[in-house]
Amino acid sequence: MTSKTTTLSAFQNETANQFEQYDSDRITITNADVESLYSDWETPTAIISDGAYGTGLFPGEPNSTDDLTEWYEPHVKAWSKHASPQTTLWVWNTELGWAEIHPLLQEHGWEYRGANIWDKGLGHIAGNSNTQKLRKFPQVSEMCVQYVKQPEFESPVHDSPVGLQEWVISEWNRTGLTLQHANEACGVADAASRKYLTKGEEWYYPPPEKMEKLVAYANTHGESHGKPYFAPDGDTPITGEEWEAYRAKFNCPMGTTNVWSYPQVAGDERLSDEDGAVHSNQKPLELMRRIIEASTEQGDVVWEPFGGLCTGAVAGKQLKREVYAAEIVDEFYEASVERVKSLRESVNDIEQRGIREWC
Ligand SMILES: C[S@@+](CC[C@H](N)C(=O)[O-])C[C@H]1O[C@@H](n2cnc3c(N)ncnc32)[C@H](O)[C@@H]1O
Repeated sequence: MTSKTTTLSAFQNETANQFEQYDSDRITITNADVESLYSDWETPTAIISDGAYGTGLFPGEPNSTDDLTEWYEPHVKAWSKHASPQTTLWVWNTELGWAEIHPLLQEHGWEYRGANIWDKGLGHIAGNSNTQKLRKFPQVSEMCVQYVKQPEFESPVHDSPVGLQEWVISEWNRTGLTLQHANEACGVADAASRKYLTKGEEWYYPPPEKMEKLVAYANTHGESHGKPYFAPDGDTPITGEEWEAYRAKFNCPMGTTNVWSYPQVAGDERLSDEDGAVHSNQKPLELMRRIIEASTEQGDVVWEPFGGLCTGAVAGKQLKREVYAAEIVDEFYEASVERVKSLRESVNDIEQRGIREWC
């Protein structure tokens, strides 16, 4: 195991930028503005964004949620550019911050999957909330919202690239075959026409084994002048394995819902010094592990562009992922490097301690 914290160029090409960087055991943390790093990072399977909330807490953070779109825009553009259809984006924020940047995410090809509510519980406001004076219910929640990257396909019958659903339907239509033929191809009564070839919200992603059947049938029985069908490159029909790679990974543990009741970080887990907490936004390790496990597998690449104390990198190391993290503030960068270096726990130790009380 090697470990180094050196001043080095994060770029392979000829830039003059010199950054402090920690790089060991597939965890890379760079002390820099992440905008200058994205193009050097490997393609992510998950991106964990825990950036500006509009509270003016770190240098450059706007004081209002009104300015969040402008703040996030260059990052969202870079994520879209470097993500693949297998990438999941997790966006931590307040509900108002998320509402503000949701249109920006959609505009850049991020499809909304679900909003998870981190419920910090009554302990978060204990002794701190005068209900006689408050004009709203005390807030004990944050959001962690899941998006996936929409794949885009060139289609001979569309002027511009189309999404997954549109592509499947239009390719089948091109064959000249009927909906009943699709059911026959998949060996089902009506599930193929009802699920895979329907327009609107009722559409289902065809599982790889069914997709293989549709593709084979189309290329055998479809009108000969339109062949090949279901060929993203225009030449070779897609395989089941390739089809699988057009969808973000997701694994939902039994009993987990979109309400995550989990206390604010405290005790030994909270990094502190003589002045108190080192970082006011430190996220619970358990929740970072939750989203990484749900959307990636061992060896996959995770990005943590706004590292803070790099809780995502710590969780990623425990779960044997490859992590690229950035933190612009020297003090936070140094604290996260120490945190990652001193990490002794393996995920097995964590499981044995039985702290996986997912709610
Ligand atoms: C909300 S905190 C992240 C907290 C983190 N999730 C944790 O558990 O410790 C956001 C962090 O992003 C850093 N940051 C903001 N803009 C950045 C940028 N352009 N490049 C790198 N880091 C940035 C801030 O300094 C801040 O520490």
